[in-house]
Amino acid sequence: MAKKTINDFAKMIENGEKITYLTAYDYLTAKMVEKAGIDMILVGDSLGMVCLGYDTTFPVTMDDMVRHCQAVRRGAPNTFIVGDMPYMSYQKSDEDAVANAGRLVKEALVDAIKLEGGGEAIASRIRAIQQAGILVMGHIGLTPQLMGQIGGYKAQGRSASAAMKIVHEAKAVEQAGAFSILIEGVPAVVGKAITERAGVPILGIGGGSYTHGQLLIYADMVGMYDNFTPKFVKKYANVGEVLTAAFKQYREDVIKGEFPDDAEHTYKMSEEATKEFLL
Ligand code: KIV
Ligand code: NA
Repeated sequence: MAKKTINDFAKMIENGEKITYLTAYDYLTAKMVEKAGIDMILVGDSLGMVCLGYDTTFPVTMDDMVRHCQAVRRGAPNTFIVGDMPYMSYQKSDEDAVANAGRLVKEALVDAIKLEGGGEAIASRIRAIQQAGILVMGHIGLTPQLMGQIGGYKAQGRSASAAMKIVHEAKAVEQAGAFSILIEGVPAVVGKAITERAGVPILGIGGGSYTHGQLLIYADMVGMYDNFTPKFVKKYANVGEVLTAAFKQYREDVIKGEFPDDAEHTYKMSEEATKEFLL
């Protein structure tokens, strides 16, 4: 299937079709996500937790993002890929933001970048990156890079005034030139209000069922990342258990001498060569 474009996403929304969106961080996973027919892949800075073992996304670097975006691109050549901007790659200045967004496009061939926040400075960054010809996805609501200021990793917009603030942020991000907005960790009614007012695709993770599409972190939904599971995750498989069981079985087979089976898993040598060799 051909890679989807922003025109395809607009058409899907027009036809009432949902957009499907999953994270991936490496070649193997990207290949499977593409094979499954998912419309869009996010190479999230959540790779800090999922792949690198950090407790937060803060330590993730631009080099980390470039490396993982490249791997995902190789695994999913026909999928729309969004590369996440890590902490401090866009906060300092518009110039910095454009240069770093440009790296993800130039070095990893992503189709779009994503950055967090809905304030004045972020609107300026979105405008600058957009003017450099790069598609920008906004990200509001529960924004992990603003963890301290939003009071930890928890749902946002649960009071009327907090909900109204997020609705306004969505408009500001859209007006700054974002081609799409991701909303994370807000009540369904807030997701609905934003989606109804939007002129661009609204994607949700923990934002209820009314958004134009849904995102999940793949390692959460297949049961691989078990340090912490947010309320909005549905578990579709227990891959972590499957892998652990396979590793355990392998270990036991080796210890017992049941693997390898020389008739099945070992290279052959002709009888003649064997005789000569063993002489
Ligand atoms: O990094 C990420 O995976 C994200 C999603 C959780 C929204 O930004
Ligand atoms: Na992220």
